[in-house]
Amino acid sequence: MSAGTDTADTTVQSATARRDLAGAPFLEAAHGRRPSRLPVWFMRQAGRSLPEYRALRRDNAMLEACLTPDLTCEITLQPVRRHGVDAAILFSDIVVPLHLAGIGVEIVPGTGPVIEHPVRTAADVEALPEPSPEQSDRVAEAIALLLPELGDTPLIGFAGAPFTLASYLIEGGPSRNHERTKALMRSEPDVWHALMGRLAAITGTFLHRQVAAGVDAVQLFDSWAGALSERDYREFVLPHSTAVLSSLAGTGLPRIHFGVGTAELYGAMAEAGADVIGVDWRTPLDVAAARAGGALPVQGNLDPAVLFAGQEAVDAEVVRIAAEGARCPGHVFNLGHGVLPQTDPDVVTRTVETVHAQPVG
Ligand code: CP3
Repeated sequence: MSAGTDTADTTVQSATARRDLAGAPFLEAAHGRRPSRLPVWFMRQAGRSLPEYRALRRDNAMLEACLTPDLTCEITLQPVRRHGVDAAILFSDIVVPLHLAGIGVEIVPGTGPVIEHPVRTAADVEALPEPSPEQSDRVAEAIALLLPELGDTPLIGFAGAPFTLASYLIEGGPSRNHERTKALMRSEPDVWHALMGRLAAITGTFLHRQVAAGVDAVQLFDSWAGALSERDYREFVLPHSTAVLSSLAGTGLPRIHFGVGTAELYGAMAEAGADVIGVDWRTPLDVAAARAGGALPVQGNLDPAVLFAGQEAVDAEVVRIAAEGARCPGHVFNLGHGVLPQTDPDVVTRTVETVHAQPVG
């Protein structure tokens, strides 16, 4: 199945179930309209920076926490309650749909996803299981629990982009240089494209299930795409991310496309079908917006490490970033990557207050 098929039903179903969040600052900014205040949420806002998260996780493995609806719901709500952010992000992980499809994967604390049988040959690709929407029933249940609890706070669904998932599957785990991944794309392009097609189907199916269950926006995480040149991105990745993102265009929900170290790729990532470009801390927001074609809102881009530099330094960076964002067609404040586990949660809360005090562009 391609990511673009079987989407009509989910779109209709979601349209009737969806909450009316007219005026929610996050959605206004993501649609390029003027919000009532500068909206902010943080990648990895749920997680080890929060003592209430660490308490819940003591007795539950990561994948269990992602697949036990009341736990998933509670963990997703924790940062919303504590920080007053303008959006929740579903607590999950990019490898959850791989696990649900039947691929052996473990999330090892301090390391990340580890794949039981790495995928490296045509036969390995052929043996990959087909995804189905029912595999994500527990994720849909968590979303159903969340929507009434969230009131008028939007919920962001997400998935890993085909390239970032392919890197984990081929390398067998986290990789600094992605050498096996890059070797496969060049030495066996047919196998590469077949794998990327299968991953686009897994990602597309997972995102459409979240949309049908009622999420208000989606973010595609291509965290490791910055390892590629623009030429290679266009040849080996763009068609597959386009398959995923274009299949979601009909939902009318904002599609955020994010990567790390992707300064050279913003134009291509916009072409893949994004409504909002996620920007890491390396590129000023207005520069990123121009590279993305000049018409798209941006999301970002405080360096997560700045949260360790003291509130004065944080506030100065927030002011600078808000001013750069005000020159863009829309701005959702965020970090340039996820909240680091040792971050002081009180600094995060204070940062939300500083963001909300900034003028809107
Ligand atoms: O609040 C949120 O932002 C939602 C939570 C979220 C998680 N993973 C929870 C998680 C999101 C959006 C992800 C996506 C994800 N997972 C990405 C893309 C975003 C990015 O960071 O670039 C990637 C590359 C992964 C793969 C992955 N999963 C890594 C690198 C790790 C960290 C390993 C470690 O222990 O340091 C994980 C595990 C993971 N996913 C944790 C959390 C909260 C830590 C697990 C724990 O708490 O024990």
